[in-house]
Amino acid sequence: MISGKVTRISGPIIRARGLGGAGLFDVVEVGEKRLIGEIVRLEKEEAIVQVYEDDTGLMIGAGAASTGRPLSVLLGPGLIGTIYDGIQRPLEALYKESGAFMEAGGRGDPLDPDKEWSFIPDPALAARVAAGEKVPAVSGLVLGTVKETESITCKIMIPPGVAGGNKARGIIAWLSPASSFTVSGVAARTDLGEEIKLAQWWPVRVPRPNAGRLGAETPLATGQRVIDVFFPLSKGGVAAIPGGFGTGKTMTQHAIAKWCDADVIVYIGCGERGNEMTDVLTEFPHLIDPRSGRSLMERTILIANTSNMPVAAREVSIYTGVTLAEFYRDMGCHVAIMADSTSRWAEALRELSGRMEEMPAEEGFPAYLPTRLAEFYERAGRVQTLGGSEGSVSIIGAVSPPGGDFSEPVTQHTKRFIRCFWALDRDLANARHYPAISWIDSYSEYAEEVKSWWEKVSPQWAAVRQAALDLLKKEQRLAEIVRLIGPDALPDDQRLVLLSADIIKNGFLQQNSFDEIDMYCSPAKQVRLLELIMEFHERAATCIKLGAPLIKITSLSIREELSRLKSTVKNDDTEALSGFEQGMRTSLEELERSYRTKEML
Ligand SMILES: Nc1ncnc2c1ncn2[C@@H]1O[C@H](COP(=O)(O)OP(=O)(O)OP(=O)(O)O)[C@@H](O)[C@H]1O
Ligand SMILES: [Mg+2]
Repeated sequence: MISGKVTRISGPIIRARGLGGAGLFDVVEVGEKRLIGEIVRLEKEEAIVQVYEDDTGLMIGAGAASTGRPLSVLLGPGLIGTIYDGIQRPLEALYKESGAFMEAGGRGDPLDPDKEWSFIPDPALAARVAAGEKVPAVSGLVLGTVKETESITCKIMIPPGVAGGNKARGIIAWLSPASSFTVSGVAARTDLGEEIKLAQWWPVRVPRPNAGRLGAETPLATGQRVIDVFFPLSKGGVAAIPGGFGTGKTMTQHAIAKWCDADVIVYIGCGERGNEMTDVLTEFPHLIDPRSGRSLMERTILIANTSNMPVAAREVSIYTGVTLAEFYRDMGCHVAIMADSTSRWAEALRELSGRMEEMPAEEGFPAYLPTRLAEFYERAGRVQTLGGSEGSVSIIGAVSPPGGDFSEPVTQHTKRFIRCFWALDRDLANARHYPAISWIDSYSEYAEEVKSWWEKVSPQWAAVRQAALDLLKKEQRLAEIVRLIGPDALPDDQRLVLLSADIIKNGFLQQNSFDEIDMYCSPAKQVRLLELIMEFHERAATCIKLGAPLIKITSLSIREELSRLKSTVKNDDTEALSGFEQGMRTSLEELERSYRTKEML
């Protein structure tokens, strides 16, 4: 351990002398309380250290000791269902130790050191080792499994070599039989003496290696119609939700975290209000995952770095989160990360940079803001894991531009690295149209890639999607005219466009997160709903062309029903939708027939 002395303190940034031999990004323990910090810059005689805990009371001359290793997280069974702070301290365990106000310097074990897990060796591997085969100890090799929760089986793997890539590190000399042990128990040993334990450390700033990137053709089904059908996200994709104050960023992220078809959710509450994390804590354990039938907390990891917690830990929390996500990806899981909000994270970066007296760039953010954003989003992706399976990390970052102005630096830079943009609209939020995702300003570059997946749900997907988007564009143009001269001056076929666009907005795009049925919409129901709405529009347009006045359409009872199907028909009730379709066809065909006969006469 290299020891030095603190020479200057500026909030969470301190300078220390005498740390000569320490490396960049080494962890440093500062003062009597041994506060955790990280060397972020090295100068000739001084090291600049970013301290992750409250350093109130720290004095010049206090000791600073480098541990000689980078900031790392402990990866192993027991992560799921735990709430951590930005540097992987378990908040619940610390709360039991020191009460609601955590003391600086409190540690806590990231994984419970006493809990025993039941390890089951991989049967094929066990047979090979028992037969005396020389199995190379390559990174990613699955040694066995541990049942972590009812929904998640944690694979115990040979970790990638941090520096040495994935070269074989000897051969497996011993594999543990089925037995129970703690996270520090040994699952296998190599002939070179390396012990592979249930839990392993990994430095947060280093992406975990994989065997190659795969395409983005499987969507992350979120159960939110405007997202899945209009602006889909792929598994392994990157999306941003920008929106002004109170437009629904957190609600949208909660909805995705609850219902998306990922195996594991990592929810990073980054600089937002504490009560938003409380909502997750109180709600998730009671919610049931529609796929596994188990509590949602059994697939969720929370990282809480709320606005009242140390700012430096907020900076590192997103790396901690993405590293935990990569660990599950490497087991072959699909992981989704919610980061709320990346703007608060960028503000932490700005504050730290200011205290380090760096030259500011746009709006005071450091010049490396885009690089850091890129580093974060680049860790997403669908990959072939070192163990040969397929896993993915999808990242969904909320952005809170001040005043809802999307031209500010964080939104603009984020746009360069994401491929899916769910722009929240103030007017929609004011009109209580939720989710307030604008169908004009949002986009998704994954729509083409996920097309073949959706076409298995319904061959009509791409066609109805495009038709609905076109109709909404047409409505936007007409709305300009309506603002000038009112709707009555428009001919009936154009007023039908307004009517059908309204049905799309109310009956399809709007989705109430508090409604028992509407909160989650299955992919099959999503396309069916839109198909019904577009069929209604087509048939109504034919009637109008034949001379039927619009009033004949608006007075049909099916029009109201169509808008309400989203919350009246359950996801699996395909019969009810077919029944409605029959009824709708009958009434519109009847109308069409009567005008056709009139035309012939
Ligand atoms: N999908 C939805 N269904 C119903 N209500 C919603 C929905 N989305 C947002 N709301 C309403 O909007 C309010 C604000 O949403 P939310 O807290 O998500 O906004 P935010 O953008 O995260 O705000 P902040 O900038 O303060 O973080 C919610 O309390 C809720 O009443
Ligand atoms: Mg919020």
